[in-house]
Amino acid sequence: MSHRLLLVVAFVLLATSASAAFRGLHGLRPGVSYEFPIYKQCDPRWGNDTMGTKGNGWRSTICGEGCAMTSTSMALAGLGATVNGSAVTPKTLNAWLIANQGYECLSGDCDNLVLTAPERFSPLMSLIGETQKPSFAEISADIANQRIIHVAHVHNNSHFVLLIGAVPGQEAFYVHDPFYNSTQYPYGNISDIIRFKINTYPVYKQCDSKWGNNVMGSNNDTICEVGCLMSSISMAIAGTGILINTSVSNPATLNKFLQTHNGYTSGSDLEESVIPQVSPLRIQWPSDGMHLSNNIPLATIKEYIDRAVPRIVIANVMHGQHFVLVVGYRSDN
Ligand SMILES: *[C@@H]1O[C@H](CO)[C@@H](O)[C@H](O)[C@H]1NC(C)=O
Ligand SMILES: *[C@@H]1O[C@H](CO)[C@@H](O)[C@H](O)[C@H]1NC(C)=O
Ligand SMILES: *[C@@H]1O[C@H](CO)[C@@H](O)[C@H](O)[C@H]1NC(C)=O
Ligand SMILES: *[C@@H]1O[C@H](CO)[C@@H](O)[C@H](O)[C@H]1NC(C)=O
Ligand SMILES: *[C@@H]1O[C@H](CO)[C@@H](O)[C@H](O)[C@H]1NC(C)=O
Ligand SMILES: *[C@@H]1O[C@H](CO)[C@@H](O)[C@H](O)[C@H]1NC(C)=O
Ligand SMILES: *[C@@H]1O[C@H](CO)[C@@H](O)[C@H](O)[C@H]1NC(C)=O
Repeated sequence: MSHRLLLVVAFVLLATSASAAFRGLHGLRPGVSYEFPIYKQCDPRWGNDTMGTKGNGWRSTICGEGCAMTSTSMALAGLGATVNGSAVTPKTLNAWLIANQGYECLSGDCDNLVLTAPERFSPLMSLIGETQKPSFAEISADIANQRIIHVAHVHNNSHFVLLIGAVPGQEAFYVHDPFYNSTQYPYGNISDIIRFKINTYPVYKQCDSKWGNNVMGSNNDTICEVGCLMSSISMAIAGTGILINTSVSNPATLNKFLQTHNGYTSGSDLEESVIPQVSPLRIQWPSDGMHLSNNIPLATIKEYIDRAVPRIVIANVMHGQHFVLVVGYRSDN
């Protein structure tokens, strides 16, 4: 855990004497251990769907050329990404990519996945790059620590598979192969790797120009001026992979949702009990959600954060003037 996290928790403790408050929301985050589904690109449910984009080159089907896209959909589904409440599949990801400039033409082939498109689709992972493969030990550790998604180029650069773990005692990886029935590939057969960082919670700044000037409640105060609690909640929702009306959760989309669902009181305060309407099966506002004083023991807060389905903790800091999302704690403090 980083120093930054220590400061967050320490601030909470410093704020005790003033009007320290905690607000809790239950949220579902992918469990401690991700389970990636196996999708086959030629599955009849989507194998004949056209992929790619219009342009100077050919377009094939998911069965024909969808190995990278299908591997990416396995990664996203395993991290918890959904479309309309169901785990993302090659079919739904492909449809989204077609509608959102997710493919590009390169050398006469218009079926190339735009590698930054997955992070526009979901905040759960973001592109590091398509790079030379790191060492076997580094890849193994990054998978085991659930830090990085690896979509590996195999079969002499003609195919992609999702790496899911190191094979004990061998320099090889277990894979989910969208086409062949292979369950493992030697490290030596990997030519390069598309790598994505697994995000837990994104960091959104309330004064970001993308939404800072957006008005919130009827008093017309802006997100930049008073949106710290709302922005913190939007980070928590985004980190769970829950979408807001099919869009990634951020201060702009959550604010819009609150405005259209009586989410602000006549006094322009945020109405927490409206938040579960974003996804009623996955978010609760429990009766003990609001703590108007710092009366939750530190051990209890740690336990909330450690749960496979974490209880979100948003802390009031700086003597009541500001809210932050608590994302972890230092085990030595
Ligand atoms: C695609 O459609 C054809 C004709 O209906 C069918 O024969 C074939 O099995 C389908 N392929 C896949 C991958 O679903
Ligand atoms: C999601 O649901 C909406 C509303 O029911 C529908 O219009 C849309 O096509 C669905 N999207 C996908 C990708 O299924
Ligand atoms: C790998 O691909 C390259 C370039 O397409 C080709 O020249 C080479 O013969 C291939 N090697 C094997 C073992 O298939
Ligand atoms: C995978 O195994 C199934 C069942 O044995 C077989 O029908 C299929 O052709 C195999 N797929 C490939 C790509 O070898
Ligand atoms: C790995 O590469 C070797 C040498 O090119 C090849 O014989 C073998 O079939 C490959 N293994 C897999 C799983 O593709
Ligand atoms: C907020 O803005 C709206 C639209 O511009 C305006 O009608 C309203 O009077 C403003 N309210 C306050 C409190 O300034
Ligand atoms: C979702 O967004 C669409 C398009 O902006 C809008 O028409 C619809 O009312 C929204 N649905 C909800 C539940 O907010």
